[in-house]
Amino acid sequence: MDGLRSRKLHFILIPMIAQGHIIPMVDTARSLAERGARVSLVTTPVNAARLKAVIDRMKESGLPIHFVELQFPCAEAGLPEGCENIDLLPSKEYARTLFEATRLLREPLTQYLQAQRPRPTCMIADLCCPWTADVARELQMPRLIFHGPSCFYILCTHLMEQHGIYDRITDDFEPILVPELPQPFEFTKAQLPGCFLAPGWEKLRSEVLEAESTAEGVVMNTFDDLEPSYIELYRKLTGKKIWAVGPLCLYDKDLDSKAARGNKSAIDYHRVLGWLESRKPKSVLYASFGSLVRTHPRQLIEIGCGLEASNQPFIWVIKDAERTPEVDRWLSEGFEERVSARGLVIKGWAPQVVILSHPAIGGFMTHCGWNSLMEAVSAGVPMITWPYFGDQFVNEKLVVDVLGIGVAIGVKVPFPYLKEDSPPAANRDDIEKAVSRLMDEGEEGDERRKRAKELAGKAVRAMEGGGSSTENIARLIQYTLEHGNSDTQEKEP
Ligand SMILES: *[C@@H]1O[C@H](CO)[C@@H](O)[C@H](O)[C@H]1NC(C)=O
Repeated sequence: MDGLRSRKLHFILIPMIAQGHIIPMVDTARSLAERGARVSLVTTPVNAARLKAVIDRMKESGLPIHFVELQFPCAEAGLPEGCENIDLLPSKEYARTLFEATRLLREPLTQYLQAQRPRPTCMIADLCCPWTADVARELQMPRLIFHGPSCFYILCTHLMEQHGIYDRITDDFEPILVPELPQPFEFTKAQLPGCFLAPGWEKLRSEVLEAESTAEGVVMNTFDDLEPSYIELYRKLTGKKIWAVGPLCLYDKDLDSKAARGNKSAIDYHRVLGWLESRKPKSVLYASFGSLVRTHPRQLIEIGCGLEASNQPFIWVIKDAERTPEVDRWLSEGFEERVSARGLVIKGWAPQVVILSHPAIGGFMTHCGWNSLMEAVSAGVPMITWPYFGDQFVNEKLVVDVLGIGVAIGVKVPFPYLKEDSPPAANRDDIEKAVSRLMDEGEEGDERRKRAKELAGKAVRAMEGGGSSTENIARLIQYTLEHGNSDTQEKEP
């Protein structure tokens, strides 16, 4: 890529304020800035504080990335002070308020952008922030959508929308064949939720669908070799420019930047590495369920017992938000001591990419959030899939049935449909069985490991010079040079 020419470009990136959305946007910022473009990434004070390590590292690197901190009007929106991220919501009932509240950033953002020289050339905005369409229109710049999930999921929801299935099917648990897919896949509406379908979300839903259809292109954290037929079909159906630019996590090359992803780590990564060093290659199971999943105490205890019964070394992440007095008591009154010789419990945010990239890791029990899956694919780690909600059931099918690199735990009912006192979605036997099947040294396990390793090779190649994702970023920059704000290009030599 011609670095001098791209220096005329100024991208404005707007992630939804949720951990899983911010992480790949920061990586996207880096991928553009490394090619000489200027990037402004919009954030808020609480999120900027979380990203401090990342922001400091970018400053040191001299990359032209600017983090734009806009005040988030919590009080005005009806949110508790400092509630600037989905993982900080006091309860689910506030979710819509938070989504609506991002809209209040429109004025301050417009003012900021109007004052910038060179003027912003192109906007890349999260699907969940449809108000950004008005900003882009006002400032006359092209707007691209950033899709966080797999292309497979985006394609499935697109097909369901196009065929009017969401409106037609009223039973959340009726299995539905997704039309037009190259292979047949069935999901219930609960497992393949469309965009903001719940009652009360109608306005946001129609704005999001509108902003999606009017965007000029789509940037995705996936790669051509991972889901080629789905990317192709989605491109054909939408007629849009699609740029698959992942796995974005591969931008983090050294341990310090791997450890700085997402949130402040609750444990010094050197300690985790020390722990992993003493383990045999591919012997450790890593269990972690992303930033938003809130596992009920009884289920957590069941997971712990399953890990204990598996006799396999493990690292298990329990989030702060999941640590009830009951869970803490259970951990400290016996469990941690019983497993101390082979289990490490991390309480809080874990340096996941550091862990997954270590040769001692042999499997990953995951909620199937797309960032986690891309991180596991990049590291060549096979998975136990345990979806909770959103895109996760669809991602599970991709991992287990299409790519053949996962063992399903067998959960069919999404988490939001479970009650506090429902029996655990998977019990200790299910967990023990899945762990021994995944870590098994027999033929089935070997085949799975081989496929995971091959896929990791493809992921790495996609991101190297001449690789598909590298080329797609170059095409995206070229597109912006051709379609971006013309006055930017005229003013500079
Ligand atoms: C991220 O860090 C903040 C501040 O320490 C914490 O409140 C929040 O729960 C963390 N999020 C996750 C998903 O761990």
